[in-house]
Amino acid sequence: MKVALLGFGTVGKGAAGIIDQGRDKDTAGLEIVRILKRTPADDPRITLDYQDIEACDVELVAECMGGLEPAHTYVRKALEAGRHVVTANKKMLAEHYMELAELAKEKNVRLLFEATAGGGIPWMAALRRVRRIDDVESFRGILNGTTNYILSAMTDEGLDFGEMLKKAQELGYAEADPTDDIDGYDVRYKTVLSAVAAFDAAVRPATVPALGIRHISAADIAWGKENNRIVKLIAAGEKKDGRLSLYVMPQFLHDSDVMARIGKNFNGVEAVSTTLGPSTYIGQGAGSLPTGHAMVQDMLTIAKGEEVTAYEASAAEVDNSGVEKCFYIRTARPEVFAAVRAENAGADAFVTKRMGLNDLLALIEKAADPELFAAVVAD
Ligand SMILES: NC(=O)c1ccc[n+]([C@@H]2O[C@H](COP(=O)([O-])OP(=O)(O)OC[C@H]3O[C@@H](n4cnc5c(N)ncnc54)[C@H](OP(=O)(O)O)[C@@H]3O)[C@@H](O)[C@H]2O)c1
Repeated sequence: MKVALLGFGTVGKGAAGIIDQGRDKDTAGLEIVRILKRTPADDPRITLDYQDIEACDVELVAECMGGLEPAHTYVRKALEAGRHVVTANKKMLAEHYMELAELAKEKNVRLLFEATAGGGIPWMAALRRVRRIDDVESFRGILNGTTNYILSAMTDEGLDFGEMLKKAQELGYAEADPTDDIDGYDVRYKTVLSAVAAFDAAVRPATVPALGIRHISAADIAWGKENNRIVKLIAAGEKKDGRLSLYVMPQFLHDSDVMARIGKNFNGVEAVSTTLGPSTYIGQGAGSLPTGHAMVQDMLTIAKGEEVTAYEASAAEVDNSGVEKCFYIRTARPEVFAAVRAENAGADAFVTKRMGLNDLLALIEKAADPELFAAVVAD
C-alpha cells in the first residue's frame, strides 16, 4: 500500500526508517511515496507543498506533524478524499475526534490512532481485543514518560523537581516548554482517546480535570516513602452506574502496586474488564522507533485489510460525581480545607477525609494557591 507521511521529525523518521529497512517483514507491503515537512531535506520523496500530497497516488495518509492546525485540516482533506488515516497526534485527534470519526465512517475509510497513547505499547489493540469478549469497566495508566522519568528519579535518587526537570530536558525527554507534560495536559489528551477505545465515549478534553506534578517537592515524595507509597501521574477512567469518570492526577500508590513499580521513562496501562479482570501493559511510551512502530502497526492493519471493529463512539459528558477518595494536599492556604482535613502529613501538608473529587476541585479553586500540590491517596 502506498503511503504519504505528514511530518518527518522524531516520529516520522522512526516510522519511515521501519518501513524503508523492513524489507523481509510484513512492512514490505508498505511504501512511503511522499513526505511533507516545512524545511528542505535530502530525500527525493520530501515536499514542502501539501498540494503534492493531495496530488499523489496514495491510499493512506500517516500524520505525525503535531499541533492542531494545519494537521486537522490535512487529516480532514485526506478523509474527504477517501484515504485511510493513521495519526500520532493526540492533541489534534482528542479535540476533533467525533468530527473526524464521523467523516471516516461516511467515506468508509479507517482512522486509527495506536501511537497517540502509550507510544509503542499496543494499548488500543489490547482494548479492542478485550472488548471482543468483555466490557471494559475501568482503566488507569502512566501515560507520560517525561513525568514518570522525573518522579522515578525523585523517588530513587532523592533529587528535587527542578533538578530532575533540567536533567530530563538535557536528555531530550522533556520539551523546552514542559507545560503539556508536567501540568497533565498531554495525559489528558491520551485519557480522552483511551476513553474512546475503552468506552466508545468521546468527551471534550477541557472537561477532564487534569492536575500535574509542577509543584511536587522532595517532602511529598518523602511522605510517600514513610507511608510505603510511591507517587505516579495517573490517567484514570471508569464507567459505573451510568456515569463516566475521567481525571488525571498524581496518585500515591501502595508500593506493592504493579503500577508503582514502573520506573524510568516507561509507560504502563491497565484495563479492568468483566472476565479478564485486570490486565497490565508496560513499554516505551514515546520515542522515535517505539512510536514509529505503533504507527506502522496501524498502517499494516489497514494494508492487510484486517477486520477491526470500528469504534462507535458518541459524544459523552464527564461525570466525576461518583469519585470519592482521600487526598494529600500541600498548600499555603490550609484554612480553606479545614472542614475536610483528617491528619497532618508534615509541614504545610495534610491528608483529607474521604471526599468527592468534585468537592476537592472546588476547594482547590477557592484556595487559588498557585503552588498547591494535590494527589490521590490510593485506596
Ligand atoms: N516524539 C514522541 O515520542 C511522540 C510520541 C507519541 C506521539 N507523538 C506525537 O507525534 C506528533 C509528532 O511528534 P514529533 O515528536 O515527531 O514532532 P517533531 O519532531 O517536531 O516533528 C514534526 C514534523 O512535522 C513537520 N511539520 C510541522 N508542522 C508542519 C507544517 N505546518 N507543515 C509541514 N510540516 C510540518 C516538521 O517539519 P520540519 O522537519 O520541516 O520542521 C517535522 O518534520 C505529535 O503530535 C506528537 O504529540 C510524539
